[in-house]
Amino acid sequence: MALPPRIRTAVVPAAGQGTRMLPATKAVPKELLPILERPALQIIVDEALGAGVDHVVIVTSRTKPAIEQYFAAAPEVEASLEKQGRGALAEQLRRYGKDVRVSFAYQDAPRGLGHAVACARDLVGSEPFFVMLPDELMEDSSLLNDLATLTQRTGVGAVALKRMPREELFRYGIVTPVGPLVKTDGVESLPIAKVVEKPHVDDAPSDLAIIGRYALTPDIFDVLDGLAPGGTGEIQLTDALSIQSERAPLHGVISQIGRRDIGNPLGWIEAVIEAGLEHAEFGDGLRTWLRTVI
Ligand code: G1P
Repeated sequence: MALPPRIRTAVVPAAGQGTRMLPATKAVPKELLPILERPALQIIVDEALGAGVDHVVIVTSRTKPAIEQYFAAAPEVEASLEKQGRGALAEQLRRYGKDVRVSFAYQDAPRGLGHAVACARDLVGSEPFFVMLPDELMEDSSLLNDLATLTQRTGVGAVALKRMPREELFRYGIVTPVGPLVKTDGVESLPIAKVVEKPHVDDAPSDLAIIGRYALTPDIFDVLDGLAPGGTGEIQLTDALSIQSERAPLHGVISQIGRRDIGNPLGWIEAVIEAGLEHAEFGDGLRTWLRTVI
């Protein structure tokens, strides 16, 4: 069997209302809230670029025009930066939205993550693709690369996992391992089946939670199309993964990657402080200031 091609497309579901970050998100989509000077969505795009992606499909809502605006060319801003002698920043702005093709699909009602992914179907086409949840920021592109390696080798989808404490399990999709950990091509993974979305702790099949990175095969779209909305009226990606895994177990990559959940205010502040401490220009100043306030 021929190997599936390299993963070149990433789908980023970004149609949510961001209610945990209200009132800021009344006017600014949560995906554009800055982590220092870079919007979270740019960090996601940069992670995708680092894994060789050349097409990002953003599933957005018509109530969030700022997302499209962010990727549009801004010749006036660039020209005035050039005049001020800030050519490097002008060049950086020109690069955004250019070094990768960015397309938009629309999810007009909050009908769940599975529905959001299904909205991207026409733009994804018939090749494997990543799904990247923008509430989660990863320290680098290594996790995407690992997922891609597995999916390319086997032709079966792969999901990123992290062991979570029991009290956190109800927030995540939890997988059932159906075999031992194996290391192939430098990537450690285990076969998984049945995925349960946000179970009660007593019903959780393991402590392995899906974190927001997936490498999926395009047959997931037919599975999603066949799904009826669950009790909440939402179409869950985890249900589609469960059905797929009945045909052949999916791969789970247990990751140790540095990760921040920025969908809530505390996680967002932590991500900003962490980025600040690493910043070449402000890092030392921030560290000194933090010592004075703690
Ligand atoms: C989504 C998925 C869930 C996954 C989680 C990762 O849930 O439905 O399976 O574990 O992302 O963050 P959400 O956080 O959007 O409610």
